[in-house]
Amino acid sequence: MAVDVAIDVGTTTTRLATADGSVFLREASVVAVDTTTGDIVDIGDSAMRKIGRDPRHVVNFRPLANGTTIDFDVAARLIRALFDRAGFSRMSRVHATMSVPAFATSIERRALRQAALQAGAVDATLIEAPIAAAIGVGLHVDEPVAAPIIMLGGGACETALMSLGGIVTAKSVRIGGSHLDESIASALRHRYGVVVSPRVAESLKNELGSLMGSRRRDVRVVPARTVDVGLPVSVEVSAEVVDGAIADHVRSIVRSVKECLGEAPPDLSQDVSVRGIHVVGGMAQLHDFPELLTHEVGVACTTVVQPDLVVIRGLLRCLNELQTLHRSLRLTDV
Ligand SMILES: Nc1ncnc2c1ncn2[C@@H]1O[C@H](COP(=O)(O)OP(=O)(O)OP(=O)(O)O)[C@@H](O)[C@H]1O
Ligand SMILES: [Mg+2]
Repeated sequence: MAVDVAIDVGTTTTRLATADGSVFLREASVVAVDTTTGDIVDIGDSAMRKIGRDPRHVVNFRPLANGTTIDFDVAARLIRALFDRAGFSRMSRVHATMSVPAFATSIERRALRQAALQAGAVDATLIEAPIAAAIGVGLHVDEPVAAPIIMLGGGACETALMSLGGIVTAKSVRIGGSHLDESIASALRHRYGVVVSPRVAESLKNELGSLMGSRRRDVRVVPARTVDVGLPVSVEVSAEVVDGAIADHVRSIVRSVKECLGEAPPDLSQDVSVRGIHVVGGMAQLHDFPELLTHEVGVACTTVVQPDLVVIRGLLRCLNELQTLHRSLRLTDV
């Protein structure tokens, strides 16, 4: 049985969908491995929920960091486990179409492709993520008009300007939502002498973070433990502390967006100011992010609906329209 599948392996979340619409999986990019046997104990959201509660012989691995493959074997195991969940047998002829960051090196691209092949795919076509995202939001990347995209992910942020089926300028920073979470955890350690779990740090960012100060008066009480004696405590965290912790990273992300747009040829630049920019990726939901970008770059920036699913939607469209796209797009094939 032949099956066409789109795969978006992300630093925090991996999505897999079939071209016929029969399967859609969205799982945390986590593989829990029993280090005594080497067997997989769990993957995805349920492995993620158990982080911090696992026995010591179970170690949680992530296939990606900063947007690209760091552990090829873990990436292959995660994809295989998702194939199993999707009901693909070892006999299925799986044709994979995957997204890869535009900034990924040829070694990183090869690692991702090999991971899909090791997982059992018969072939794997890579499409640069900004192109997939632009197609996912419905932009016509093959026309001689600027198609701008700002991608704010969990491990990296990328801005790209496409025209005539290819990337004209792109800039990225290997900073994403997970780095903001780490900065929040580290600010709490310094300020209150407490350690919080990665999940708590993430929820503080998502629920309290605001980039133009609109949530400044909000507070949350979160569970923590003291650094010195390890006592469980509750800490009241204000939005101001969260905003202060993430400010430097946000500045670096905004700087890279400006650099990319600053390098655009004048005609395309004109298109961008007229058409505005779509902001995608999970972190596009961070409060005030599109407003801050609009303010900083002077062009209307809008977050699309379900911004974390734009890339997989674009990949699915590519799968369904591959024949046409092959003629007009430069598909990455390393
Ligand atoms: N409501 C929200 N507010 C702020 N951030 C959010 C919200 N929802 C999700 N995020 C953040 O979005 C990030 C995940 O985004 P996304 O799923 O696009 O990343 P990814 O594809 O896994 O990573 P990458 O593409 O960088 O490898 C996480 O850091 C998550 O905390
Ligand atoms: Mg992503």
